[in-house]
Amino acid sequence: MAIISHIPQHVAIIMDGNGRWAKERSLSRLEGHRAGTENIRRVIDTFVRYGVKYLTLYAFSTENWSRPKSEVSGLFRLLGEVIKRESQALHERGVHIRHLGTMNGLSPRLVHQVQQAIELTSNNTSITLSLAFNYGGRAEIIGAVRRIAAAGIAPEKIDENIFSDYLYTNGLPDPDLIIRTGGELRLSNFLLWQAAYSEYYATPTYWPDFNEVDIENALMAYSQRQRRFGGLRPDQKFQGSVPD
Ligand code: IPE
Ligand code: IPE
Ligand code: MG
Repeated sequence: MAIISHIPQHVAIIMDGNGRWAKERSLSRLEGHRAGTENIRRVIDTFVRYGVKYLTLYAFSTENWSRPKSEVSGLFRLLGEVIKRESQALHERGVHIRHLGTMNGLSPRLVHQVQQAIELTSNNTSITLSLAFNYGGRAEIIGAVRRIAAAGIAPEKIDENIFSDYLYTNGLPDPDLIIRTGGELRLSNFLLWQAAYSEYYATPTYWPDFNEVDIENALMAYSQRQRRFGGLRPDQKFQGSVPD
């Protein structure tokens, strides 16, 4: 393990590149997705070892419904298999599983599998694993607005804290680091509100190949960043005179 000076509390990953990984090997896209799901446990274990307390994985966006029906159903089947196969092992490692997104359009079987995994692991504290699927950042914001309106909260009472309480991520700290595999430089509707001050790291590595070395590189890059949140660097703070 590499020595990293600043470990992010919350890492969120856009797991992209399964299709291109498969294409390079003349495999079907679904075989790429299968290889991608097989990588999930390895990645969780590595982040647990580095002491990351919150890990969020983007697995299926609201826009991914526009893919061919067979790919969509295959993706959800794989997701169900992973949740069923891994939840006991994750539970034994103290992983607390959450879901970010809605259950709209999902099969009752998958909904049941997800609810079971959430219930089983609800008291665990070693790491919080949030699975973002059937997730869209804009849909999340609209949902929050609707729930706030339905709760009858007075407009002047609405502030950033209250708004955050109505998002799927209620109770989670904002991501410190957002990693995207597969080389694209975009958010693709991921955590739009929460990403306001996140650090970004993109790697050309396709998700099924994303391994411990890539994780170390991402953590090392993060630890060298200077986060300012709109303020000044400590060494700039007392330079020059401030007009009255
Ligand atoms: C990421 O891989 C998984 C999902 C978006 C569901 P892709 O399927 O987007 O892979 P590429 O981008 O086509 O390589
Ligand atoms: C982003 O990947 C969504 C997930 C990884 C779940 P996409 O492959 O859907 O993103 P775009 O279409 O390239 O923006
Ligand atoms: Mg993609």
